Amino acid sequence: KTISLIGAPTDVGASVRGAGMGPDALRVAGLVEALEARSLTVIDHGNLHGPANPWLEPVNGLRHLKEAIDWNQAVYNAVEAALAAGQMPMMLGGDHCLAIGSISAIANHCRKVGKKLRVLWFDAHADSNLSTISPTGNIHGMPVACLMGHGPKELISYGAHTPAMLPSEIRLIGIRSVDEGERRFIHEMGMQVFDMRYIDEHGMRAVMTSALEGIDADTHLHVSFDLDCLDPAIAPGVGTAVLGGPTYREAQLCMEMIADTGMLASLDVVELNPALDLRNQTAVLAVDLIESLFGKSTLVRLKD
Ligand code: ARG
Ligand code: MN
Ligand code: MN
Ligand code: MN
Repeated sequence: KTISLIGAPTDVGASVRGAGMGPDALRVAGLVEALEARSLTVIDHGNLHGPANPWLEPVNGLRHLKEAIDWNQAVYNAVEAALAAGQMPMMLGGDHCLAIGSISAIANHCRKVGKKLRVLWFDAHADSNLSTISPTGNIHGMPVACLMGHGPKELISYGAHTPAMLPSEIRLIGIRSVDEGERRFIHEMGMQVFDMRYIDEHGMRAVMTSALEGIDADTHLHVSFDLDCLDPAIAPGVGTAVLGGPTYREAQLCMEMIADTGMLASLDVVELNPALDLRNQTAVLAVDLIESLFGKSTLVRLKD
């Protein structure tokens, strides 16, 4: 398997600066070497180019719309090219607005080759805001809604189909910060959400068993990993940290259960903010979890 690394160094979707340094922090933490040690072939395409962060206030409920459109187009093109070459795209953010371009390309590919799509969205936030209800205007709080066809025209029509993704194709995991309008939107759409309360009550094993249910050989499994999903005690290097996320052990179990399916086909790693990190520990943790996602295991006993 060949992995195509695509760096998207921007924070135009956020109002905390720094996520643009994420791709290089992951490289410094040894991402390429860790993947190669798992016998994977890695092609690092380096970083995409796009508009600078103009650092402006939202206009009509949207901050930096033009810049977000351009960055997502660049991501869409790079992810599409990787898939066309038969490679596994790994998009290194950058803030989470970039998942619009990444998942639009993946969904488009799935429609074309007739695969089922399953997206696992790991996040502290629901990222289901619309310009009319967002308290911030930050587009990194809107990618789920955009992918479901609710958002500015240019952000919802990268691929041949709008909406890019159906509510039945996504599972939100680790959620604990939801705005009032998002709560309504999620219920209207009928998305399956495994929020922290659900994880507490049922345990991560049951959550992942449900989230992975129905995945088979015809499924394209995509993981959109917002690092602020993790508890800030272990992952302080994020712009919008929320107390009370999964522990290291719970996160490891998630990754290992995904690896066990053998169906992971693409990945976003987003919201890493090196400016807020401690000696790159969040990047190092991300690399450690990615190793598990690609099958590294501490299991001694045989899997049951
Ligand atoms: N719900 C908040 C907002 O709309 C926070 C979004 C945070 N999103 C993220 N990808 N970190 O601004
Ligand atoms: Mn997010
Ligand atoms: Mn988040
Ligand atoms: Mn590991």
